[in-house]
Amino acid sequence: SQTRLILGLESSCDDTAAAVVRMEEDGRGTVLASVVAGQTELHADFGGVVPEIAARAHAEKLDHCVEDALAGAGITLPQIDAIAVTAGPGLIGGVVSGVMCAKGLSAATGKPLYGVNHLAGHALTPRLTDDVPYPYLMLLVSGGHCQFLLVRGPESFDRLGGTIDDAPGEAFDKVARLLGLPQLGGPSIEKCAQEGDAKRFALPRPLLDRQGCDMSFSGLKTAVLRARDKCVAAHGGLTRQDQADLAAGFQAAVVEVLAHKTRRAFAEYPAEGARGLCVAGGVAANQSIRAALETVAAEQEARFVAPPLALCTDNAAMIAFAAGEQAVLRAPDDLTLSARPRWPL
Ligand code: KG4
Ligand code: ZN
Repeated sequence: SQTRLILGLESSCDDTAAAVVRMEEDGRGTVLASVVAGQTELHADFGGVVPEIAARAHAEKLDHCVEDALAGAGITLPQIDAIAVTAGPGLIGGVVSGVMCAKGLSAATGKPLYGVNHLAGHALTPRLTDDVPYPYLMLLVSGGHCQFLLVRGPESFDRLGGTIDDAPGEAFDKVARLLGLPQLGGPSIEKCAQEGDAKRFALPRPLLDRQGCDMSFSGLKTAVLRARDKCVAAHGGLTRQDQADLAAGFQAAVVEVLAHKTRRAFAEYPAEGARGLCVAGGVAANQSIRAALETVAAEQEARFVAPPLALCTDNAAMIAFAAGEQAVLRAPDDLTLSARPRWPL
């Protein structure tokens, strides 16, 4: 029988999510419901995601998210054709919570179970909303990940390069902390940067001239720290203008590195015929980054596809859709499906 209505679960970091996606005849997906319960407030006092707290919250919230997603889609559990769950990579406690919940639902309903790679979920998202053909170039940029992928098919990815240290989202979050801006760092830096002069501080563009598509963001963060300390030494603290100028300078450096390495990804893999440039992950929400990548895509005569923000950040619709695409090519998993903290594409 055909796999049409897919219930997806996601719990690999600090968002608990459930969604129902309907696979259409033409291979596209329609998101019937997508529920995301964040945990930002639970981790706020700790300066980062606390794995134990995250796992507990996922375990508590998953059932409610599933109920809300089914209700939002106007269906009941028996109407689902398959269950998809993020089986890694991620914080193991959270991934285990999701996998256990999905196994329970699969065992109770007798419906097939698909363990999905979280990164594959992000990488396939552009096909959920656009009819972008394989192969396409994907820049996956989030709090935990940073890589260029050549996406050849639902289960076929070539990694062209990535960060050798911090992910860009992580750098945004750390720099926000350095500047005394609230978390999430990405949106607060982007907002603050609007009133800033990106040229006031000379910040580095790490690895810009190195061959290949590898990137580095930790030295940039350290450079922001030094510039901040100079401001503090000079006038005893950071003014609103210092914050804005540092935020703008930092963001401009990230934009330039990402744009330059994207050009290089096109240049170094010309034979692959990637005519699409897609972007996903939480950092893809950044308007300056989107605009710069759109320009690169235009130069390369490639189609630029950026999914809506709600599908760029962690969500379960991308997991359900990835399972829908993969179900055509592979057998479901069984109840021995295990949670994998590390799972390279
Ligand atoms: O994909 P995501 O929700 O979760 C992970 O896989 O980590 O990405 C979250 C990351 C955070 O580091 C956040 O600061 C960053 O994405 N982010 C942004 C923006 N919105 C979220 N970074 C830059 N600009 C933004 N507007
Ligand atoms: Zn993610």
